[in-house]
Amino acid sequence: MTYLTPLILSFLSTISAQSLTLYTGDNTATATSTASAPDGTYTGLAAYDPTVLTPPTPPSTPVTSYTLTLPANGQAVLDSGLSLSIPQKGNFLGFSVELSIANSLMGSSSTNMKVPFLNYMANIQNRAGVGPVIRVGGNSQEGSSIFVDGLADGAVLDKIKVSEGVTDTPLINYSLELFYLMSNITSLVGADWYFGLSFNESAVDSPTGNVPIAAKWAQDILGEHLLALSVGNEPDLYVDHSKRQPGWGVSNYVSEFDAMTQSILADNNLIDTSAFIGPSTCCQVVGFELDDVLNAGWLTENVDNLAAVSVQHYPTNNCKINGKVIEPQDIFAEFLNHTSAQAQVQPYLGNSQTVLGAQKEFIMLETNSASCGGFAGLSDSFGVALWMTDYALQMAWGNFTTALMHVGGQNVYYNPFTPPPSTESSSKQWTTGSIYYSTLVVAEAFGKTNQSKIVDISPSAEQDANNIYHPMYAVYENDQPTRVVLFNYIDDNTGANDLQTTINVGTATSSVSVRYLRAASVSEQYNITWAGQTLGTSFASDGRLYGEQSTVTIQCTDGNCVIPVYAPSIALVFLTEESLSNSSPAADAKTEYETSVVGTGSATVDKQALQTSNGQGTKGGGTSKGSASSGAALRITSSSMIGVILGLGGVVLSLVL
Ligand SMILES: *[C@@H]1O[C@H](CO)[C@@H](O)[C@H](O)[C@H]1NC(C)=O
Ligand SMILES: *[C@@H]1O[C@H](CO)[C@@H](O)[C@H](O)[C@H]1NC(C)=O
Ligand SMILES: *[C@@H]1O[C@H](CO)[C@@H](O)[C@H](O)[C@H]1NC(C)=O
Ligand SMILES: *[C@@H]1O[C@H](CO)[C@@H](O)[C@H](O)[C@H]1NC(C)=O
Ligand SMILES: *[C@@H]1O[C@H](CO)[C@@H](O)[C@H](O)[C@H]1NC(C)=O
Ligand SMILES: *[C@@H]1O[C@H](CO)[C@@H](O)[C@H](O)[C@H]1NC(C)=O
Ligand SMILES: *[C@@H]1O[C@H](CO)[C@@H](O)[C@H](O)[C@H]1NC(C)=O
Repeated sequence: MTYLTPLILSFLSTISAQSLTLYTGDNTATATSTASAPDGTYTGLAAYDPTVLTPPTPPSTPVTSYTLTLPANGQAVLDSGLSLSIPQKGNFLGFSVELSIANSLMGSSSTNMKVPFLNYMANIQNRAGVGPVIRVGGNSQEGSSIFVDGLADGAVLDKIKVSEGVTDTPLINYSLELFYLMSNITSLVGADWYFGLSFNESAVDSPTGNVPIAAKWAQDILGEHLLALSVGNEPDLYVDHSKRQPGWGVSNYVSEFDAMTQSILADNNLIDTSAFIGPSTCCQVVGFELDDVLNAGWLTENVDNLAAVSVQHYPTNNCKINGKVIEPQDIFAEFLNHTSAQAQVQPYLGNSQTVLGAQKEFIMLETNSASCGGFAGLSDSFGVALWMTDYALQMAWGNFTTALMHVGGQNVYYNPFTPPPSTESSSKQWTTGSIYYSTLVVAEAFGKTNQSKIVDISPSAEQDANNIYHPMYAVYENDQPTRVVLFNYIDDNTGANDLQTTINVGTATSSVSVRYLRAASVSEQYNITWAGQTLGTSFASDGRLYGEQSTVTIQCTDGNCVIPVYAPSIALVFLTEESLSNSSPAADAKTEYETSVVGTGSATVDKQALQTSNGQGTKGGGTSKGSASSGAALRITSSSMIGVILGLGGVVLSLVL
């Protein structure tokens, strides 16, 4: 596949007529250049592809004003025929990290963490009041990922075989060091984790018993910050991907799930036994959808051992099945209205009720704009950042508990952030993908109370076809509306399609505050601001936001506040002072980790910072869920000690090796 060509990226050798501005982390423009490859084709890695799509033309009759009637409380929401979600947290939208790239993204060891990664995570913690939710897993957790007690040079993981296909994955040996790395990330930025175990049929009764050992260590080291161990990744595709024999189906899955979890739970291997998440079905395979798994009794049988129920979903794909190629330009408009977010979530509304009824959380464990790597110019566009925000809020309204955006390697277009190619790590920084900004908007939309319920109050498309471009949500805390999220998907920077939305907030309120997610066009890749701040262009980010934070004050007259919603943009309206402060980084927030080795995108975090960081010694102690020991206390350096510890857990040393 052409987009996998492992050429060293030549940043300036880009598509024709593409004008690029290089600017550094402090946002000062340093160079502008226009260049084209001889054939006008970009040949570098997907994650840095400068392809820009043509934005859809604005509708011919602009809508320029709208009056929003905001239900005064939860009962008024119901009375108007709408529904409020369960309480949501500010970390609702998080990240799904492919196991095979966990080291290049997060760090090479527990003592060498990637500073930009920490900064990207700290931005969320500071807005959500809780750390980000991160899943480590994916295709590469499957089949032949093997847990080992140590690797050469203390590595987090080794890739044994790297193949060419975008979803083909290497064999992976991962070590204890990976869990220590995750634990140390938690002590700095409060991350909570899902971890993916191998679900290889031979692992269940294999003599190595490797999976139970990995499960035990993950729980011992991560303690309460391990949300669940995921068993199986997209089992509905196993036959298709030759991971199981033809004819293998839901009943086989249910019994393998049982065998695997029972082997992990045997001999009191785990302290917390409601430890698992599944089935992570993804792809509307007839006869193997979540409904089929639930109908097969899987949920009732496993209810005591499940922490949550998961699905995975991408609205479209770039898999080039049977030579069928989707042109991103042809489908760009399909992402740029509210119908898309609704259509993605609607099929799960029955499932979320069933899962909540069983008192389990419902998790979108992996999602993004398009599977098989996403699309050039689309997956990394501002338009898709609008869409991802809409889709995330729609999932929150639909009673998902968490949604995780997938992060792949440099051969995909959809990453929220990508480190520079290792050959250029000394001269370049990270590349922020447009959808990273969605996590900031969602974090601030819900804020720090953990009590934010959301309702989709979008105007009806039956009243006006243009309403699909203007989704609206309201957030309620303590039975009062506290924030409103207003979208404008239309690409028109002339102002002709700006929407003046009037919100009646009651005469007691004289002004409201607004923060905007903005770019000049839905096609823009990098020049994007959230509340006036940006993470900059490709190869220029250390994970910190640069520029003055800008919060706009709108004066209201007789309780009516007129909010300009620029085309294109998202306006997050804070109805109270308290809701603004509940979404903002504290003045003394420990937000940022300075990159001490400039330009490498990686640096050793100094021990002082670790010792004084929030969480260390208070959160790591495994008080409610999981281990009674923090990672630091369990740090083991010799394999003989591993034998002792595992021996206490009823597992013999020789099984580890
Ligand atoms: C399962 O694991 C075994 C042993 O590591 C490996 O040989 C086999 O290929 C794996 N099966 C699948 C379907 O990945
Ligand atoms: C990694 O896994 C392979 C099997 O896939 C095994 O042969 C090898 O010994 C492992 N390496 C280490 C360092 O454990
Ligand atoms: C709106 O989005 C839906 C769902 O993706 C799509 O089918 C439809 O074509 C879009 N409408 C317009 C006018 O682009
Ligand atoms: C979400 O859950 C709440 C609380 O149970 C319920 O009232 C609401 O109807 C649910 N929303 C949807 C879309 O199912
Ligand atoms: C929100 O929930 C987290 C646990 O996920 C908890 O640590 C935190 O204290 C809660 N915040 C508030 C304001 O209750
Ligand atoms: C970024 O976009 C803004 C308007 O959206 C524009 O004024 C500014 O010049 C752009 N900056 C760069 C570096 O292109
Ligand atoms: C975390 O990093 C610190 C500082 O480098 C190191 O001393 C400690 O062993 C690490 N913790 C774990 C659990 O590995």
